[in-house]
Amino acid sequence: MIESRKNDRAAWIKGPIAKCSVVPDEPPRAWRLVLLGAPGVGKGTQAEMLTERLGVCHLSTGDVFRAASKSCNGVQTAAMTEALRYMREGRLVPDTTVWDIIRERVGCIRCCGGFVLDGFPRTIVQAEALERLMTEQQVFLDAVLDYELPTEEIVARLSGRRVCPKCKAVFHASQRPPRKENVCDHCGSPLIQREDDRPESIKVRLKTYEEDTAPLIDFYRKIGRLVSVSAAGSADEVFERSMVALEAAITDGPLRSRDPREAIIGIGRPGHLTRGHSDPL
Ligand code: AP5
Repeated sequence: MIESRKNDRAAWIKGPIAKCSVVPDEPPRAWRLVLLGAPGVGKGTQAEMLTERLGVCHLSTGDVFRAASKSCNGVQTAAMTEALRYMREGRLVPDTTVWDIIRERVGCIRCCGGFVLDGFPRTIVQAEALERLMTEQQVFLDAVLDYELPTEEIVARLSGRRVCPKCKAVFHASQRPPRKENVCDHCGSPLIQREDDRPESIKVRLKTYEEDTAPLIDFYRKIGRLVSVSAAGSADEVFERSMVALEAAITDGPLRSRDPREAIIGIGRPGHLTRGHSDPL
């Protein structure tokens, strides 16, 4: 078993009254990244690797919902009960519920250590709300890494995924197996299969991604934050590709400027972007 000094992300997972186990040092550059891509493309896996390399915190909205579903105090708000039902079915949780969670955790967004946001935003409405929140908090998004992979490979990754319910580590039964079958390398807990990795939920999730989340690719391209990365190959290969793409975009490309308002070509300030299909948050 590997002794882990990882941040437990308590303030993110449990909400702002909880204290994180590791208080971040202020790094020379606090990276603030969003990971985009279809379910199962490998965002969570890359988020873990980026977190380790860049010293940032892994902020996953899916992890917040999964932790709430395991919470043993037995008290769940009506909104959270509804959110968990949507999640099991593979549908998106309503924007207002997701936004309440983000708003409550604004301290993680402005944390001096930086972040990798994984699973948020997922709709145009959420992306616009994040733009406004970050502007209000005077922090800026460095880049949006968009991972691309053919659907059949995505389905194979989702069907073989095994996760640790305790420390949230992610494995794949054949492609990234744990050292001991079905046991977490990090904390020794038995691994499980996620409820939404059943074939019927996978189908709904992929359709939902195409309809609601894929339009974010254009959204972030237009504001000059998009960095596209192929998710083919091993996790290490994808990670090295991500670092090279990020470095190139920061030094020579459109991400030279940290304030997206300086990088926008041909459209207005972030607050003036075209509205999505539903009401603003
Ligand atoms: P969430 O937890 O965010 O899930 P997701 O986006 O569907 O993404 P996944 O976690 O399924 O996949 P991933 O891309 O992280 O892949 P992973 O690294 O695990 O959201 C779950 C649900 O919560 C949503 O459906 C929704 O209901 C709700 N929700 C959350 N946020 C929301 C929001 N903002 N708005 C509304 N609703 C929201 O990798 C997959 C597998 O592949 C693993 O087994 C891994 O080991 C393996 N693998 C990874 N990389 C490689 C590689 N390069 N080669 C081989 N195998 C690999």
